[in-house]
Amino acid sequence: VRTTLFRNARIVSPEDPGIPLAGPAQGTVATFDRGALLCRDGLVVAVGPEKDVLDAARWNERAARRPRSADEVDCEGRCMIPGFVDPHTHLCFLEPREAEFLRRLDGASYLDILAAGGGILATVASVRAASEEALADATRQRALACLRHGTTTIEIKSGYGLTTEAELKQLAAIDAVARAAPPAVVPTFLGAHAVPREFADGSDEYVDLLVRETVPAVAGRARFCDAFCERGVFTPEQCRRVLVAARAVGMRPKLHADEVHDTDGAALAASLGAVSAEHLLAAGEDGLRRLAAAGCVAVLLPATAYALRKPYAAARRMVELGLPVAIATDCNPGSSYTESMPFVFGLAVLGMGLSVNEALVASTLNAAYAVGEQERAGSLSIGKRADLLLLDGETPGIVAFHAGVSPVRAVYANGVRAWPAEGNHP
Ligand code: NIG
Ligand code: FE
Repeated sequence: VRTTLFRNARIVSPEDPGIPLAGPAQGTVATFDRGALLCRDGLVVAVGPEKDVLDAARWNERAARRPRSADEVDCEGRCMIPGFVDPHTHLCFLEPREAEFLRRLDGASYLDILAAGGGILATVASVRAASEEALADATRQRALACLRHGTTTIEIKSGYGLTTEAELKQLAAIDAVARAAPPAVVPTFLGAHAVPREFADGSDEYVDLLVRETVPAVAGRARFCDAFCERGVFTPEQCRRVLVAARAVGMRPKLHADEVHDTDGAALAASLGAVSAEHLLAAGEDGLRRLAAAGCVAVLLPATAYALRKPYAAARRMVELGLPVAIATDCNPGSSYTESMPFVFGLAVLGMGLSVNEALVASTLNAAYAVGEQERAGSLSIGKRADLLLLDGETPGIVAFHAGVSPVRAVYANGVRAWPAEGNHP
């Protein structure tokens, strides 16, 4: 039994009411100015005002018939928040597409580059050629960068293989990273990410292959299935076919919806009962209302809007409509190359107009709901994993305020310090 008592922290965390926080509740957090948290075997067993938690700790010691058994961490008055949950990444690739970034700065459009066989398809060529070990190594290194920036749970999508064999290879690499947790990993199958070059004349034929062969082959290896619904990529009907087939073999639907153009992706996500609709830069009012009515989580990716120099998603309108908002990095080799949830948090506050507490909920509890991890992550609540961050500041506001560097002083996963490594004092 490993017991750890974190004392003298300013704890700020969403309280989990059993559903994502939306509308006026989007920014609901509990704050304990002199707080403490007790964890046993990696799980939170008490959290709240220090005095109450110390009572619980003494009770715990008596129950264990072992006096003073808890290790103690003095948090020195720092702000403690839950570990970030990054609910949308494409982390499994080798090299970022730097030359393409420079072309986009010179005016080339993201979708034109893809239509010409570059973009996502350039990454597909290199992922197909890579060994599973090389992919796993690159993905693991990137996941560790995420962890250093405070991400303790991360969703990772496939989608750079686009053959049954290469998608299975990506999912195997992602699984290798999952087995090396932390961070905890949620795998998503994204076979409908782009139409591979060998199918250039018929995207329906590629969708047929996905439905007939790839989806059944990856069943059991991914918790979710996602698709890129976009003009010139996959139509809503094609996405619907893939997601329905995936749902039939146990993968829950997600959707890249209305990222560049409004193609009714939000309405499709709502009609499928998708757990989340992601991007939504171009989503219209009607689509947002449908998502709210369907209980979907809106996963917003402000670093993508930033890097593509597009207007941010209408986060304030979504909150007004009662749509629960989560935020994610979208970390990928093209449209958003960052492992940093603090960077995304800053954009959510200063670019999209979320309050600090709304952004905290968006990057923790609502993000956990968006990847089905709410019973284990997303808030400092009894029974969840003791995944927590100590910040270089007094409130979560420091995450938005201290720009361009990480305000994360220490990361604990399952109650154990994951960064900096034991031995280096935080
Ligand atoms: O979310 N839009 C599709 N997929 C990613 C980008 C992937 C890439 O450019 O490699 C996105 O923006
Ligand atoms: Fe994405």
